[in-house]
Amino acid sequence: MTTVPQITLNNGVTIPQLGLGVFQIAPKDTKQVVLDALGVGYRHIDTAQMYGNEREVGEAIAESGIARDEIFVTSKLNNDAHDPEAARAATARSVDALGGPLDLYLIHWPMPAVGDFVDTWRAMEEFAEQGLTRAIGVSNFQIPHLQRLLDETGTVPAVNQIEVHPYLQQNPLRAFGREHGIATEAWSPIAQGDVLDDPVLLGIAADTGRSVAQVVLRWHLERGDIVFPKSSHPERLRENFDLFDFSLNDDQLAAIAALNADRRRGPNPDEFNWIPG
Ligand SMILES: NC(=O)c1ccc[n+]([C@@H]2O[C@H](COP(=O)([O-])OP(=O)(O)OC[C@H]3O[C@@H](n4cnc5c(N)ncnc54)[C@H](OP(=O)(O)O)[C@@H]3O)[C@@H](O)[C@H]2O)c1
Repeated sequence: MTTVPQITLNNGVTIPQLGLGVFQIAPKDTKQVVLDALGVGYRHIDTAQMYGNEREVGEAIAESGIARDEIFVTSKLNNDAHDPEAARAATARSVDALGGPLDLYLIHWPMPAVGDFVDTWRAMEEFAEQGLTRAIGVSNFQIPHLQRLLDETGTVPAVNQIEVHPYLQQNPLRAFGREHGIATEAWSPIAQGDVLDDPVLLGIAADTGRSVAQVVLRWHLERGDIVFPKSSHPERLRENFDLFDFSLNDDQLAAIAALNADRRRGPNPDEFNWIPG
């Protein structure tokens, strides 16, 4: 079976560099998709309270027969639960739905106009101390948000999960993370499909005999980021996992670097303050 590289986070916890994301997988389909992924060899699942499918992820893990400690599970605190008391209740629900403590738990969005994410981060520190999660991190944090956590709290986030793909390469934010021991997780790694018909990427795919999705996922891995592409299709789950018997040369890496357009597929974290209704 393929061996996925492990990344060591700043508290010593290790995370498989490649996993499965389950955003926009309907709860009724989630258990089967996760079982299919575990069958392919995936051992890292990225979910969130917002996705509404944590319980089905937990059911798939329980049914898989694979030891829980062989699977890395991430969830995220929802935007409606930043208040520390609400965060405690939401976290208890996640731990229950996922069948036990989490491996990684993130603040999903900083919500800068709504509350103070530093208070939320202090609640996250409490959850780690209580053993509800092995590591804590953030998602969609910009450099000033991260800087406040560094200045005002005692725990450096283990990861920052941000939108990254060839059209939004995020080099300053990734470099800031590297400098401070914060691993970058790249969400929407294939830009939800937007990069798949790019002529430059199609050319590299033809040259390597791989699909565009594989080329782009391989590019993320070679940059050192953690990725968890989403697919509901067994053949694509296999395709997205089959990344470890080829590499990109310097010309190909340079051609992909030149595609950066600082163009987001998703919301801008400085402006996104949406609370689920
Ligand atoms: N923290 C955050 O705010 C945040 C935001 C967005 C996403 N995420 C995380 O990142 C994960 C991945 O991001 P994402 O789901 O937005 O986008 P993505 O993984 O970049 O793209 C998923 C889309 O690409 C299609 N696809 C997947 N593999 C393919 C392949 N080999 N060939 C052709 N099409 C393929 C999927 O369709 P099919 O399913 O039909 O195959 C789906 O429509 C999420 O699931 C979630 O865990 C986090």
